[in-house]
Amino acid sequence: MAIRYNADTKTFILETKNSSYLMKVSRYGNLLHLYYGGRVPDEDLDYLIIPADRGFSPNPNEAGNDRTFSLDSLPQEFSTSRSGDYRSSSMEIVWGRGASSWSGKVAGYEIYPGAPKIKGMPGLRALPGEEAETLVIRLEDPVSGFEAELSYGVFEEKDVIARSVMVINRGEEAARLERVMSATLDFMESDYDLIYFSGRHLMERGFRRIPVSDGIHAIGSSRGASSHQYNPFAIVCEKNCTEDYGQCWGVSLVYSGCFLMEAEKDQFGQMRVNAGINPRGFSFQLEPGAAFQAPQTVLTWSGKGLTELSHIYHRIFRENLCRSPYRKNTRPVLLNSWEAAYFDFDGEKILSIAKEAVDMGVDLFVLDDGWFGCRDNDDAALGDWTENRKKLGMGLCELSEKIHAMGLEFGIWVEPEMVSEESELYRRHPDWCLREPGRPPVRGRYQLVLDLSRRDVCDYIIDAMNSVLDKARIEYVKWDMNRSITEAWSALLDRNRQGEVLHRYILGLYYVMDQVILRHPDVLFCGCGGGGGRFDPAMLYYQPQIWCSDNTDAVNRLKIQYGTSFAYPVSSMEAHVSVCPNHQTGRTTPLNTRGIVAMDGIFGYELDPTKMTGEEKEECREQIRFYKKHYRLITEGDYYRLTSPYENRYLTAWQQVSQDRKKSLVSIVITDKEGNDAQRYVKLKGLDPDGFYRIEGWKGKYSGKLLMNVGIPVPGGLSEYEGIQLLLKMA
Ligand code: GLA
Repeated sequence: MAIRYNADTKTFILETKNSSYLMKVSRYGNLLHLYYGGRVPDEDLDYLIIPADRGFSPNPNEAGNDRTFSLDSLPQEFSTSRSGDYRSSSMEIVWGRGASSWSGKVAGYEIYPGAPKIKGMPGLRALPGEEAETLVIRLEDPVSGFEAELSYGVFEEKDVIARSVMVINRGEEAARLERVMSATLDFMESDYDLIYFSGRHLMERGFRRIPVSDGIHAIGSSRGASSHQYNPFAIVCEKNCTEDYGQCWGVSLVYSGCFLMEAEKDQFGQMRVNAGINPRGFSFQLEPGAAFQAPQTVLTWSGKGLTELSHIYHRIFRENLCRSPYRKNTRPVLLNSWEAAYFDFDGEKILSIAKEAVDMGVDLFVLDDGWFGCRDNDDAALGDWTENRKKLGMGLCELSEKIHAMGLEFGIWVEPEMVSEESELYRRHPDWCLREPGRPPVRGRYQLVLDLSRRDVCDYIIDAMNSVLDKARIEYVKWDMNRSITEAWSALLDRNRQGEVLHRYILGLYYVMDQVILRHPDVLFCGCGGGGGRFDPAMLYYQPQIWCSDNTDAVNRLKIQYGTSFAYPVSSMEAHVSVCPNHQTGRTTPLNTRGIVAMDGIFGYELDPTKMTGEEKEECREQIRFYKKHYRLITEGDYYRLTSPYENRYLTAWQQVSQDRKKSLVSIVITDKEGNDAQRYVKLKGLDPDGFYRIEGWKGKYSGKLLMNVGIPVPGGLSEYEGIQLLLKMA
């Protein structure tokens, strides 16, 4: 039993293979958070909370004259508001004549087998035959009529707790929800570091580690998408935590819209972590009886450092989140036309690129932006999802057939959520985009955002996408989203409901994806948000892979993919080899290095092979052969970050190890070089210490112990930006 309630100590106990999570009902009915960490026996943890009479810490009325009971300091599971807890709260509501305090008390609980049921939003599910259990705890506040149902899905074997909340208005009047966190995690101490991943377009998910200090450190997005700027994932860890040592806690929000994550160190040196929808600009009107479902958070704990934490996320995202049959099926090696031709192509040019791609050993050709409407540039035609026959010289079906006849699969690019003012769709429905009345709309990349909070708009997109997919033979779709949302105002909602638009947009997007993506299980969908601007678990539910970044520079990618790897598996990161000088940075790196770096993900190309020499094409053929041969090891092997590109300026190294530890692939890229340079070594990880390994191309065999404790010398003669892959096999 992964979930128990101990009636003697009034404690809820959640257990995974390696962790325990404990909550206790206080003598006044509040739900207190006691512990989340390594497995502990079923003991009464009451002793952890030392009652103290603290100045300026208010006492709830029901505590009578007990000045030691204050919500100002008690660790809470889902905080009250305006009831004496001054930390950042779990929920804010406004009800009745403007009252806003809420004090939920435990009113019941239920334990059921299986994963939590979350309606209208992505979430983890249990695999057939896999044990999962769910606990729902009901917190009631009879005065406001607001109820919070906290849900905890325990995936015991996978060491994961999926937490969420549903808020229900049981009162007699409409009320407004102004903030709801999917998870609040209170810690009794705060001597921790906070790790998060921030950046910008072309430089996403940079690794940041800062000490938790007095006040609130917040990250988040208010751009309508999870964003390039901050990823909805954070880690709290002990100060001495490394890749292989120490305690760490991960919080990942399964949501593609505006989010907030906070780490607050309070006056008593305690820490509160919050994760949920960003309250900025958010409010949701709840009529009597109406409920609001908050997105899911995926929580995990590791006592063995950051690598183990990453392994837990990689596994659960790969196996329990992704819906596509491609979570298991081998993904094709593709060639994408974007950096090959941008908008400058016709049917003939596309066919000549495709012909060379077949010759290289590519499986799938992707026709990126520019194939529809009158789209010869990025200022027109979004919304008009019919092929541009004039430009292609043929229909999409014919083009697809010709490409198939060469022995390739065929894929296309779409950006369904957007509209260009210069388009048939906009001329017919100027009111279908998000804009405020009386004010000219703000543009981004010349385009406007369709109002996906409207069902009619969603239905148009569903029809448009399904008719493209049903007409032509298409095996792959790159689903893009290329601007941030500005005016979140919808023509169909009342003035007191405009705070719902950004969340309704995301629900609309999930609805569209349900109707298009889940209806086409044989099509491989790749997520994209101007590169990595919507790289989040909710998108992985629909799309097993996401275009990691518009930046294809191999050296910049080392940092981008390093940061991404903390939460997301190799199988989710699409990565391409492009030409040099690189189009984003102007840097030149060897083709071999570009291949090594792109193989740290779902491998592909984004270049024009008609412009390559025979030698270069042969090198690409070899890359594809190597990648296909080691596909399972690369995409499903345990992933180890051997060095950090932020700490080691000379090289970046990473490693995959097969589940049976018999095979491993080590990749090293030289990032800086000095004259008369030092000999450098890389310590390997994850091998069988008692096993012996041969390294392809090297003499002799080496024990796992030696390779992990002493390491391997980085082969001499590698110049700046050169790289090497070393294949290890158990002898
Ligand atoms: C975005 C994507 C690119 C490409 C262009 C096309 O920027 O991230 O890969 O598809 O759009 O306009």
